[in-house]
Order: sequence, then structure tokens, then C-alpha cells
Amino acid sequence: MNVIVAKDYTEQSRLAADIVGKIVREDPCCCLGLATGSSPVGMYQELARRCREEGLDFSQVHSVNLDEYIGLTPDHDQSYRYFMDSNLFDSINIDKKNTYVAKGIGDVEENLAEFRAVLAKSDVAVQVLGVGPDGHIGFNEPGEQLYYSAHQEVLDESTIDANARFFATRDEVPRGAVTMGVGEIMRARKLLTIISGSNKENAARQLLMSDVITSHCPVTLVKLHPDSTVILTEELAAKIGYVG
Ligand code: F6R
Repeated sequence: MNVIVAKDYTEQSRLAADIVGKIVREDPCCCLGLATGSSPVGMYQELARRCREEGLDFSQVHSVNLDEYIGLTPDHDQSYRYFMDSNLFDSINIDKKNTYVAKGIGDVEENLAEFRAVLAKSDVAVQVLGVGPDGHIGFNEPGEQLYYSAHQEVLDESTIDANARFFATRDEVPRGAVTMGVGEIMRARKLLTIISGSNKENAARQLLMSDVITSHCPVTLVKLHPDSTVILTEELAAKIGYVG
């Protein structure tokens, strides 16, 4: 695993954008695996700036997202489709027809069948990951077992707590989501994990300061991928005692 300690969030975002930008330049028709949440927002802003000012070309790029809340329509301002449009797709020259975020409304099994079919035919060049305070990746929550394929998850109370900051009240946070499975995440040619935000110490410690790989902390699986990069800030590295 390649671990990069960045000075701060700005540098972390720039380094992450370097990795994704290089892939887009070298393979303009690539498929990007994308994440929502606060962690990749700075990287998305930097990619949008490079598209605007440096001609980074997304016109032939495809994308597939990790997850979507169950029960939110695509135009709901907390849906992950809305997040992707407003944080990235509306600011770059991607063709939105080539972007896929799983459906959160309608028949869950049908939506999952469609999601799995899209993933089966996607050759994801890089999968961007954030990490939940409980160590989740996508919405693969910790537990006795993990799932290979896209499936429905009941969100952990700690995930609902963490995501309540985006909603008017905690009660409005959806209790379920559809998510890529860990097998589909691991099929990407490269993993790029951005660890950012408060309450990530426990997950970062389990990933970087322990040799254990466990379904009780799903992010520990990224150690198994042959091309896996993790970027964290100096502040977080110091908190967990990581020296490289
Ligand atoms: C989002 C996702 C989640 C988030 C994680 C961290 O698509 O799959 O795993 O990456 O919950 O969220 P932030 O970055 O908001 O701390």
C-alpha cells in the first residue's frame, strides 16, 4: 500500500487530483469510480479547475458511483446524484449520459440488478474512496460479513450521526442505501482512499497501525489491493502516531 501524508486538506486534494488527472490524460475514455461525502470535495474542485483552466478533458470519460440513499429522488438536494452534479459533473465537460449513480427510488431489487449489470461491464480505472468513522467504504458497514456485489445496507447509527450534518434533522437521514459491494470495489484497477474529517482516527488506526484485515473495519480490505494509495493529513497521521 502506498501511503501519502499530506500537509493539509488542500494538499491532500491536490495530490488526489494528480492521480485521477493523470489517469484521465493517459486514458481519455477511462471509467472513474467516484465517491460522495466531504472527503473528495476538494479533489473535485481541483479537477474542475484543471478542466476549466488547463483543458483536462472529461468529454469521453465514464463514471460510476459507489452508492445512493434509498428513498431520495435524484433531484433531492441530499441525494448522491444531486451531490455529483453539483460538486463535479456540472463543472466539467463530462457527458452526463456517461455517468451512473444507482437509483434510490423505485423497486430496490430492480435497481440493484441494474447497478450490478453496470458494474459488471465497467472497467474502473480508479475507485475513489472516503472512509466512514466506523471504517465503512461505500456503505459497506462493519459486521460479521461483507458482500461481494451491490446490495442494500441498513446504515449504522454512527453513519446516521455522521451524515446528519447534511440534513435539517437527524430523522431525515435515510436509514438505508444501495452500495457497491467490496468485491466490486476491489475489482477496480486502482484504489484511491482519501481519509479526511473528524472521527476518522479509529478507522485510520486500524488501517495504518495494525496488520489485521477485518470485516469489522471494512477499509482494512484496501490493504489487499495490489495498487492501493491512501492519502491522509499530517494532523491525522500525528494523532494516530503514524510515521511512515
Ligand atoms: C460516499 C461513501 C461513504 C463516504 C464516507 C465518508 O459515497 O461511500 O463511504 O465516503 O461516509 O464520508 P465523508 O467524506 O463525508 O466523511
